[in-house]
This record gives sequence, structure tokens and C-alpha cells, in this order.
Amino acid sequence: MKNILFIASEAVPFIKTGGLADVVGSLPKYFDKEKYDVRVIIPKYLCIPEHFRNQMQYKTHFYMDFNWKSQYVGLLEMEYEGVKFYFIDNEYYFQGFKPYGNIYEDIEKFAFFSKAALCVIPLLDFVPDIIHCHDWQTGLIPVYLKERFNGGEMYRRIKSVMTIHNLKFQGVWDVKSVKNITGLSSYFFAPDKLEAYGDANYLKGGIVYADAVTTVSKSYAEEIKTPFYGEGLDGLMRARSNCLRGIVNGIDYNEYNPETDKRIVRNYNQVTFRKEKYKNKIALQEQLGLEVNKDKFMIGIVSRLTDQKGLDLIQYVMDEMCSQDDIQLVVLGTGEERYENMFRHFDWKYNSRVSANIYYSEDLSHRIYASCDAFLMPSLFEPCGLSQLMSLRYGTVPIVRETGGLKDTVQPYNEYEGTGTGFSFANYNAHEMLNTIRYAKSVYYNRKREWNKIVDRAMQADFSWNNSARQYESLYDNL
Ligand code: ADP
Ligand code: GLC
Repeated sequence: MKNILFIASEAVPFIKTGGLADVVGSLPKYFDKEKYDVRVIIPKYLCIPEHFRNQMQYKTHFYMDFNWKSQYVGLLEMEYEGVKFYFIDNEYYFQGFKPYGNIYEDIEKFAFFSKAALCVIPLLDFVPDIIHCHDWQTGLIPVYLKERFNGGEMYRRIKSVMTIHNLKFQGVWDVKSVKNITGLSSYFFAPDKLEAYGDANYLKGGIVYADAVTTVSKSYAEEIKTPFYGEGLDGLMRARSNCLRGIVNGIDYNEYNPETDKRIVRNYNQVTFRKEKYKNKIALQEQLGLEVNKDKFMIGIVSRLTDQKGLDLIQYVMDEMCSQDDIQLVVLGTGEERYENMFRHFDWKYNSRVSANIYYSEDLSHRIYASCDAFLMPSLFEPCGLSQLMSLRYGTVPIVRETGGLKDTVQPYNEYEGTGTGFSFANYNAHEMLNTIRYAKSVYYNRKREWNKIVDRAMQADFSWNNSARQYESLYDNL
């Protein structure tokens, strides 16, 4: 039996701001239970829903020297769907309505979390062979493992994996403060270690010190070796390329299943979608106050509203896209104010065609995946992307830009060969996107049988965790 410990800043069903939580919460369920015992540590945020917090069982607590103070570290545990989750408790660091605040607070918060997560290991009835870290919030862990905790035999045996879900966020702050907070010596703040461009960089530390580095699609693993996608670390990614692997994400096929999903109005499957799927559309049109018409081409967007997601392209052609009465657009998302207001504006301007829902809702997201005909995701960059996988699963045809995981998971429609699960375009260009949307729309309206075959192939594509979990297993075995 191999013991694997995931350490991360979010995991479903407890706390989620994006795809990271989906991955950390669902992947552990899909390992071969005979061979791998996979457990997860996350912070016990005050914003985790109360009914979950009430179910957590207190295990122990102690005080840890951190940032010149003696700090409380509580350890709680809870089993969920066969996976053991541990929670690090500290009311000072993990208070607030959101898991993340401003970067200065977060730099300290996740240094605390990383150190505390390593300190609790001797108190678990579980000695990890491998610690699997996710994103910058846990970048210090491989560094600490090699430094501070290297004294103990138990820690010395542990290997570490660093998975990059998004290279854009690196956890950067000035060296002096980070030295103070982390207690790491000057030795670590050199350009071949934690330092990048004169600042301390948590993710860089993780990448340099981890025994293996992965990212969440093959294409993104290549892209980040180039300056355009490398976010300043492309040189490092090239240097570490023999330890870097792209393993595409999956989604939880039990949670996202049109046949059993309780959040949607009408269940359907690959056989019944032609007769049933549109009933979800009608219900959504009624719910959101759009014109009720089962034939209208409905496009969905469920997204963090940030510049990563290609929303500038949408803004640029929104008027052209909505000028004719043959399209409906349903948006669900929160994020940068300029994008929130942009969608609110178009909701006001094209009231019966555009519905902007500027909030977070798991229920509405499932309804959008189930109801729409197409799903738009024109990202500037996309390490993997889960929304397009959810759309495929619900037979909602993705329209994507060919980047990162979008390129690896959506096969563009080829009308001559009768292949493909979606539509795609190459350049970050608003009219290229618009033309692709128009092409999709014309297939939808004029060649319905062809369209339904695309839906059929989309629903057949397999992005459950089955394949990718095997790849992580072989990575662990090699380590
Ligand atoms: P990212 O992690 O970059 O945000 P992904 O496509 O990997 O992008 O994952 C996004 C996840 O967050 C999906 O599960 C998606 O359904 C969900 N999501 C994003 N915005 C919202 C929202 N406003 N309400 C509900 N779910 C959302
Ligand atoms: C990040 C990426 C997204 C990816 C997710 C889970 O948030 O932006 O592309 O799917 O992590 O790996």
C-alpha cells in the first residue's frame, strides 16, 4: 500500500473557488483503493458551510512557532465519500467570508498552513510516501521538506509532487518579509531557488524542490516552456522539463451525470437527449426570463470572470453576436467588476436574449451545462479547464479557443469526415471567435442531424478520472 497525502487550499465539497477544488476533492476517490491510500489536508476555513464544520471530528491541537509567535494548530478529520480529509484549524488565519484575501495576508496564511500541514503528519495514523502539493499556496512544502523537516528520518523519506493548476498565480512577495514569515535562511532566496526577479516566489520554490512537477494538460505543459504562457518562469520550466509532465484533468462522473443529476429539471442520457434535453432549456428560459422557445440556439458561459477566460473577445463582438434574434446567451460568473458590469449591461440591452447571473451557484451551473446547446470558452490560456468537460458530459457542444487543455479535450468538428465533439478557433481574435460561433449556429439550425451527432460524440467522450488517475499512479510508482 502506498500512502499519498494531498495538501491544497481548496477541495469540494467543502470549499471551492474554481477547478482546483474539483480536482482535489474528486481525484482521490478514483485511485485503486487496494494499492493507494490517498488522503487530503485543507485549511478549516470559517467559510466552509456549517453543516460540514459540525461533522468534523477534533483530533488534537498543539502550538507551533511561526512568524515569531507561538500559534495554535488544530487538527480535525472527516471522511467523505470514502476519502479521509484532515483540516488545519486556526481561527486567526482562516477567518473571513472567502478562502483568499489580499496577497500579503495570503502569503502569511499559506506559509502557516504549509508548515502546520507538515507538523501534523506525526500525529496522523498515516505516514505519507508522497506529498502531492497543488498550486502556489502549497509551494513552500517541498522547500520545507528539504530544509527544516529534513532532520527527521520520517520526513526524509517523503517524496513530493508539485502540480501546477495555474502558472499565473505564483505567490510573490518581497524577500525580506517572506524570510521573516517563513523563517527560511538567506540561502533559499537565490535565483536558483525561491527567488524570481528579486522577489520571493512560493510556486517557484515548489517547482525547484519537488521531486516531480506536473500540470493539468499536455498542451499546457508545452506552452509554459514559452515566454507567452510561461509567466516569467518559462526558463525554469524548460530547465525542469525532464521532471515535468502534463496529465489531463478528469471530472467526477457521478457528480456530473445528466442521467441522475438532481439539480436539473429533466434527466437524459445518450439515447434520450433528443427528446429530453430541450425540456431543461425551456425550464431555464422560464427561470431566467428569456424568451421561451425550444428552438433558440442557447449558448452558456460558467466562469470566473477574469482576463484568463477570453471575455474581452466576447465584449468586442457582443453587439454583432446579439443583433439578430437567433441566439440566447446565459452567463453565470463572478470576478472582475469590469466583466461583471459588461454582462449586466448586455443583459439590460438585450433583455430577452441575454441573462447575466453575477453570483455563484452550483445549482444554476448544472442547469446551464444541461440546458444550453453550446458552451463558450474562448480562453486566452487554459491549463486544463473543467467547464468544457462538464459540457461534453451533458451534450452541450463546446466552442473553445485552441489552447492548453481546451485543445486537448475538444475535438473540432470536421463536416467532411463527420468527426468532432465541438468547435474551435486558433487565434485570440474576436472575429475568428464570432465566425466559429456562426458556423456552429448554422450547423445547429440547418443541419440538425449533424448537430445531434456532434452531441452524441460529445457525450461519448470519456473524461472521467479513470485514465488520468492511472497516470498519477504510475508517477507515484516511479517516485
Ligand atoms: P478555473 O479553475 O480556471 O476557474 P475550470 O474550468 O477548471 O476553471 O473550473 C471552473 C469550475 O468552477 C467549474 O466547476 C465551474 O462549473 C465552476 N464555476 C465557475 N464559476 C462558477 C459560478 N459562478 N457558479 C458556480 N460554479 C462556477
Ligand atoms: C486552474 C485552471 C483550470 C484548471 C483548474 C484545475 O484553475 O485555470 O484550467 O482546470 O485549475 O486544474
